[in-house]
Amino acid sequence: MKVVRLPTFDKSDSDYRGQVMSNNARSTKGMMGVNSLPVNGGGNVLRKGLPISVQTKPSAAGSSMTNSRKTESSPDPKDHLLLMASRRVWFTDPKHGFLLGQIVDLGADKVTVEPDSSGMRAGSQLQVAYESVYPAEDNSSQDYDDNCSLMYLNEATLLNNIRLRYERHQIYTYTANMLTAVNPYVEIKGLYTAETIKRYQGKSLGTLPPHVYAIADKAFRDMKVTKQSQSIIVSGESGAGKTESTKYILRYLCGSWGSTAGPIEQKILDANPVLESFGNAKTTRNNNSSRFGKFIEIHFETNQKVTGGFISHYLLEKSRICSQSSEERNYHIFYQFLAGAPAQLKQHVRLGNSKLSDFHYLRQGCNQFFGEKGTLRDPIVDDIKDFKETDTALSHLGLGDADKVAVYSVVSAVLHLGNICFQDDPDDQRGGCRVTVESEADLQVAAELVGVDQDELRQALTSRVMQTAKGGTKGTVIMVPLKVYEANNARDALAKAMYSRLFDYIVHRINQSIPLKSSTAYIGVLDIAGFEYFTLNSFEQFCINYCNEKLQQFFNERVLHDEQTLYEKEGLGVSRIEYIDNTDCIDLVESPKNGILSFLDEESKLPKPSAMHFTTEIHKAFPNHFRLALPRKSKIKEHREIRDDEGFLIRHFAGAVCYKTTQFIEKNNDALHASLEGLVQESRSPFLKNLFTLTASLHSSTQKLTGKLTHMSVASKFRMQLSELLEKLRGTGTSFIRCIKPNAKMVPDVFEGGQILSQLQSAGMTSVLELMQKGFPSRVPFAQLYATYNGLLPPRLSSLDPRFFCRALFKALGLSEDDFRFGLTRIFFRPGKFKEFDQLMRNDPDSLSQMVASVTRWIVQSKWKKSQFAALSVIKLKNKILYRREKLVVIQKTVRMHLARKQNRPRYRGIMQLRKLESQIAAMGQTVAKLKKDRESSQKEVDKVRLELAAAIQSIKSNVKIRPENIEKLHKDLLGKCDSLLKTLSQRVEAEKNAEEQEKARKMREEMERQKREKEEQERAKQLEEEHRRKKAEMEARRKKEEAEMAIKVAKQKSVEQQNKSNLNDLIGFTDAAAVEQDKRDVELAYRLAQESNGNATMEEAATPTQLKRSNYVVNSRAGKKYDLSGWKYSELRDAINTSCDMELLEACREEFHRRLKVYHAWKARNRGGKASSEMDERAPKSIYQHQQSYQPSASPSPPPGGIPLQRYFRIPFTKDGQNRGLWFSHFDGQYIVRQMEIHQGKPPVLLVAGHDDMQMCELKLSETGLTRKRGAEILEYEFEKEWNRNGGMPYMRPLDRRNS
Ligand SMILES: Nc1ncnc2c1ncn2[C@@H]1O[C@H](COP(=O)(O)OP(=O)(O)OP(=O)(O)O)[C@@H](O)[C@H]1O
Ligand SMILES: [Mg+2]
Repeated sequence: MKVVRLPTFDKSDSDYRGQVMSNNARSTKGMMGVNSLPVNGGGNVLRKGLPISVQTKPSAAGSSMTNSRKTESSPDPKDHLLLMASRRVWFTDPKHGFLLGQIVDLGADKVTVEPDSSGMRAGSQLQVAYESVYPAEDNSSQDYDDNCSLMYLNEATLLNNIRLRYERHQIYTYTANMLTAVNPYVEIKGLYTAETIKRYQGKSLGTLPPHVYAIADKAFRDMKVTKQSQSIIVSGESGAGKTESTKYILRYLCGSWGSTAGPIEQKILDANPVLESFGNAKTTRNNNSSRFGKFIEIHFETNQKVTGGFISHYLLEKSRICSQSSEERNYHIFYQFLAGAPAQLKQHVRLGNSKLSDFHYLRQGCNQFFGEKGTLRDPIVDDIKDFKETDTALSHLGLGDADKVAVYSVVSAVLHLGNICFQDDPDDQRGGCRVTVESEADLQVAAELVGVDQDELRQALTSRVMQTAKGGTKGTVIMVPLKVYEANNARDALAKAMYSRLFDYIVHRINQSIPLKSSTAYIGVLDIAGFEYFTLNSFEQFCINYCNEKLQQFFNERVLHDEQTLYEKEGLGVSRIEYIDNTDCIDLVESPKNGILSFLDEESKLPKPSAMHFTTEIHKAFPNHFRLALPRKSKIKEHREIRDDEGFLIRHFAGAVCYKTTQFIEKNNDALHASLEGLVQESRSPFLKNLFTLTASLHSSTQKLTGKLTHMSVASKFRMQLSELLEKLRGTGTSFIRCIKPNAKMVPDVFEGGQILSQLQSAGMTSVLELMQKGFPSRVPFAQLYATYNGLLPPRLSSLDPRFFCRALFKALGLSEDDFRFGLTRIFFRPGKFKEFDQLMRNDPDSLSQMVASVTRWIVQSKWKKSQFAALSVIKLKNKILYRREKLVVIQKTVRMHLARKQNRPRYRGIMQLRKLESQIAAMGQTVAKLKKDRESSQKEVDKVRLELAAAIQSIKSNVKIRPENIEKLHKDLLGKCDSLLKTLSQRVEAEKNAEEQEKARKMREEMERQKREKEEQERAKQLEEEHRRKKAEMEARRKKEEAEMAIKVAKQKSVEQQNKSNLNDLIGFTDAAAVEQDKRDVELAYRLAQESNGNATMEEAATPTQLKRSNYVVNSRAGKKYDLSGWKYSELRDAINTSCDMELLEACREEFHRRLKVYHAWKARNRGGKASSEMDERAPKSIYQHQQSYQPSASPSPPPGGIPLQRYFRIPFTKDGQNRGLWFSHFDGQYIVRQMEIHQGKPPVLLVAGHDDMQMCELKLSETGLTRKRGAEILEYEFEKEWNRNGGMPYMRPLDRRNS
């Protein structure tokens, strides 16, 4: 046996990924030549030859069970090719799939291969792409029962193995648990005999050569062991042998292990010929092609006896009833009946001497019989023989003669119906048609067989009942005449409905005959058409391919997904395999919202359904769907000729298929129009009537299920059936049989490699190969393995525990660990290894005794090892105990410490935390030290906290059981106190600091202000000084000016006096008179004044006015004055001065006042005699009066500048005998003195104010004083004010200001 060395591949490897993609692309080309559609599941991975072609030499011969299956990572493909350079390889060939050759050169992209001299294309050299080259087995003529046993697992070796076996009439090959069956098209001797059945009975898969019986047996045993229903899915394209395989399985399961079948089993078996007669037909691909799908359930009860069965059927091809292509036939029953039915029966059903060509429904296709009556030959199909078989089977199924006649009558009625032809009715003005004269006879027979009146049938076929929407409750019923083509359609529809209902009836009768009363589990066999494609495909292919997509999904789930999930559950550590999920394709078809089928149903509901509209809508709905494309995108010319609204392309898992949608709507809607429905409902034939009511009841049950009351479309029904089927399948254990059709000619011994490869690919075999080469396809639960083999072994072995038994067995057999793996509940075997194990177990008695001896030896050895182990364990245990005791002390110590720590840690930590507060308190002390105020009270507060802290620490120390939360609270409280106190102290310090700062700032501000003031003062003093200097300069200038003016004036005066002197005598008379008058008045005035001034002026003796002499000036000065004040009293003048606003009056008053004062003083002086001079001195220094005597007043004194009289201040000394005796200060407001001050040493100062002290004050006008011309006499205001203020004088207010204030 060869060793299988399988490298694994690293999917993360980028080179490898690149290859996968390119291989994907390649794999689709060969399929249909359509376009790049990745084919089935993970198969794409295994189809690559190079990545898995590690050139490790097979190990030396010997028991393969001991050989290991090493996995290696995939090296560079070119390296493989270099290794393979001297070896034989497989390279792709469109016709044969693969051819053998030898690499002769390695190019950049291609490999040069020289085909084998013995094979095809010998002698030529070919350039082949790298990915199209696969390593060949060393011995390419060696075949294997299981493909998994191949050394190189790839498409080429798989195909070659199948080919080799096929050539040897070994049509079955395993790929792990899956069976590949190639149709031999010839009876292989002994392959299906009762003996063979017996041989396979109860044998594990792989123990005998691959066989369909082995699969059936596995399903049976699995059902028996697991108590779970099983299903066997038989798939393959038309003619691949599905139905035959199904029959063998049924025969195996119903054949009571080779012996004669029981009554129920027989009935199940009898169902086949009947189903085939009514549901099979000759097609170009298969002479006995099943035109429907079926799922046959064989139910078993607890003792594994068949209790009944149930057949579900799917999608009977109805179009075949009315038309067939030239090479094909209608359903077998028509031919069988015409060929094999007794004449009487034929006569009875009105088929008398009819020939095939008599019937329109038969003559369009191949109107030949199979068997001796015709020209067609087939090893299985023979019309005469088959009729007999069918008839008998019908009887077995419980159909009585009458039933059978009724069945045949329907068959005959369909044929006669088909012969009814129509022609335009010239009498019908609505464009109707009529039955042709030639067809009348057939019409009559058909009416008879259907059980209706001939005319009723005629009318129902040529017109249609319609109900108007209005008129009465149900609307008015009107008959609409049909056109010829419409009548033809109506006829065909009736024929199809009758036949399909007949088929439903037959299946129903079969199911009735095999009722299941009590069932524990069943084995279901699914025989349904495989993936199907023609150049252009219609609704039937669409449905069947949709079904195959669903089955493929189930296959992926079951084989790839479930298998891998099991590996995971059992902990085998098998790396995962990726596969392509086709859910998107299924959704595209069946999605209830916007699947193609729902679009189709929606279209059918439209008032005028149109295939074009339907197709356009689909393209519109899925413009960029990966699975759907426009036909013109195809690479096939015929597809491109189809318009966009005529069809679509679907990329199925197995390849792209082009569907032409022209008849989709019609085929989807198999409802009869109302007239025909009514007609058959009223049939006189109870059988026919029953056919329609039966199906109606079947329909209503499904309608109830879906909740819809409308007629169910074919697609919807199929979709529902499929989902039911899939649900069933999911609830069962599954086995797969992949049937392969070896050639299109349907002949034995022709192996068309290219086509077969394509079938293998669509069947997902390559992805299974990949899974299996990495996986463990065979698995047995420990208990089952134990139960199977312990009978073969001596009691001492068989009494062992199952798991230990298995382990002992495997060890004793020396099996390699790589060939099996112990899961959690079962043992898993590598492909083919279980068979080898089984063989070892079933060897001849000698080797068995050897094996028993070795198992016994192993057990003894293992027991000895166990004893040694036990002794060692005891010693080890003792040491361990000592060690543990030592360690326990450590543990105790540690734990105690831990506990102590655990208990005291909070206290310790609490104290630590509290201690930290001490530094805070110290900080507080420092803060207190900074305080200037309240230091003592603050210190007291700090001390209080310190004491509290000490008390808290003490309380923690003294109280062992203090709770952590209390400690925490203590700490928290103290921390809070410390914080708040520290904050308060800091605030105090801060406040003090701020106050100091503010004080400092205030002082600075004051200092600055003082300095500023000083500066300003200095400035002002400076300015004042400057001002004084300036004023003094002005004063001096003024004085000088006045002095000069005075000098001039004096000079002038003198000259004038000289002049006057001469005139004096002339004038003396007048002047005297006036002077006397004036003097008189002056005396009166002086007198009055003396009285008014409270006696200060004492009138001693009034001088006679005549004594007074006045100058001319006095007289002149009064002349022309505005105011005559001579009559005013002294007090009136005084008031006017103080109150008047009239400047002129004011001035006049002042002048008058001073004139009177002067007069007074003069008068007084004269009357005083010798004392006069001293008195005069008291009012003003003598020098002033001296000057006054010399002064000659000018007629018009100069007016004050700006109308405001000048304020002038003077200081002159009192002198006596050339010595200064005091100082005299005066303040002149304009011409008149307002303040006067006399300061004598050793005497109090005398301060006099005008208006109050006038009598004691200088009465002279300023100009009369001569002060202005006296050097150094005038002083500045401030000098006067200073002295005045110093001596306690009141501030001076001018008469005008007094009034205003
Ligand atoms: N195991 C077999 N041994 C001999 N001949 C076989 C075997 N299997 C199939 N055949 C031949 O092949 C023919 C086609 O087989 P079968 O009817 O089972 O195909 P199918 O897969 O069911 O096709 P379809 O899908 O058209 O029904 C059979 O009539 C028979 O002649
Ligand atoms: Mg079939």
